[in-house]
Amino acid sequence: MDIYTDVLVVGCGVSGMYSALNIDKSFRITIISKSKTEECNTYLAQGGISCARGIDDIDLFVKDTMKAGKNKNNIEAVKVLAEESIENIHRLMKFGMDFDYKDGELDYTREGAHSINRIVHSTDETGKRVFETLLDQVKKRDNITIYEDTTLVDILKFKGECCGGIVKRDNMVDFIHAKYVILASGGIGGLFSNSTNRRTITGDGIAIAIKNNIEVENLEYVQFHPTALYEEDNTAGRKFLISESLRGEGAKLFNINKQRFVNELLPRDVVAASIWDEEKKTDSRFVYLDASFMESEFIINRFPGIYKECKKRGIDVTNEPIPVTPVQHYFMGGIKVDLNSKTSMDNLYACGEVSCTGVHGANRLASNSLLEGLVFSRRAALDINKFISSKDIADVNRNITIKEADELIESNLKCVLSEFKKVLGEKKHELIND
Ligand code: SIN
Repeated sequence: MDIYTDVLVVGCGVSGMYSALNIDKSFRITIISKSKTEECNTYLAQGGISCARGIDDIDLFVKDTMKAGKNKNNIEAVKVLAEESIENIHRLMKFGMDFDYKDGELDYTREGAHSINRIVHSTDETGKRVFETLLDQVKKRDNITIYEDTTLVDILKFKGECCGGIVKRDNMVDFIHAKYVILASGGIGGLFSNSTNRRTITGDGIAIAIKNNIEVENLEYVQFHPTALYEEDNTAGRKFLISESLRGEGAKLFNINKQRFVNELLPRDVVAASIWDEEKKTDSRFVYLDASFMESEFIINRFPGIYKECKKRGIDVTNEPIPVTPVQHYFMGGIKVDLNSKTSMDNLYACGEVSCTGVHGANRLASNSLLEGLVFSRRAALDINKFISSKDIADVNRNITIKEADELIESNLKCVLSEFKKVLGEKKHELIND
């Protein structure tokens, strides 16, 4: 089937939905989601969203982001992120987002490598609330259509420019013709045996970019979150995250011999490395994160998600330490984009985890991911708004059978796996088998 739309958005997380909501309402937008809409990583984000505390905090926020990123960041992108943080948080609040307040003011929390408390949050379920807020807005727009269970197989091209996407949906192949395509398909966590990400997030956007000679960069920049819940039963499935904000609120790390070994609020890569080290020294597969000395009521109200999920697994966070270990969490590399999220191919934008603005450098500062999604997906939308009225849809045909679509999907997975095996070298054992 041929479908005609003005903008095709691939992905239903914060970047996909927020870009759609910032495109002029007079244009038709089609959002595709590989599985059900809520099965995106945005939904799982716990800690919150970083936000400059005011104009006076911009320089320090930039410094913190650069320091965590080992100064490998694109400083221009970092400045944009910090400078546009406040306005985008306000926009999100106008859409109905409910952040936590304390004494009549936004309750800013702290996470690793932030010099001050600058993270707005909604208990420990910030991502879920962001997702619900944006989805509510999307549903109110009659110019936006969502297709669930729809996989991007490849992009459509005409004379080297992007003009839509080939998708697999309901066991059929559809050709979605569009003036612009925004890739917001997320990262690569599903390629790793142990990750906090949804298993379906397998770097499809990266594979399609590589196969179409679209520039990608920093593929070796993979982040491990220090504290995922350790479970003896290691059956496939994502690992449950124990938010860094629990450490931000005072929780402490101990080895299995009940000894402290690291400052919990150092950058993520440092804390993760120190946990691996400690596990080796003590011949253990985990360390402990202890919040049991905090007021039970505080834990239950501030971290209801963590409290419930741990309880389900027989751990009472108010009474006992949580076994934790580092697992893959985030991808700082991706499809190379400029400050308006434009890729090296005309008419193709990328934002969120699939993209690389360079904003995170070699190690993302905690709670900068939802913020990046907001800031740079809005920039993509505003750039598209400038040119969309004067553009036509290039109508190309490409005949693909369902069997060929399945083969392309399989080769996309093989392509990213082999790419990451190359760049990650000896860490490749962390990857799933292809
Ligand atoms: C967390 O809550 O620890 C994760 C937040 C993030 O990935 O920035």
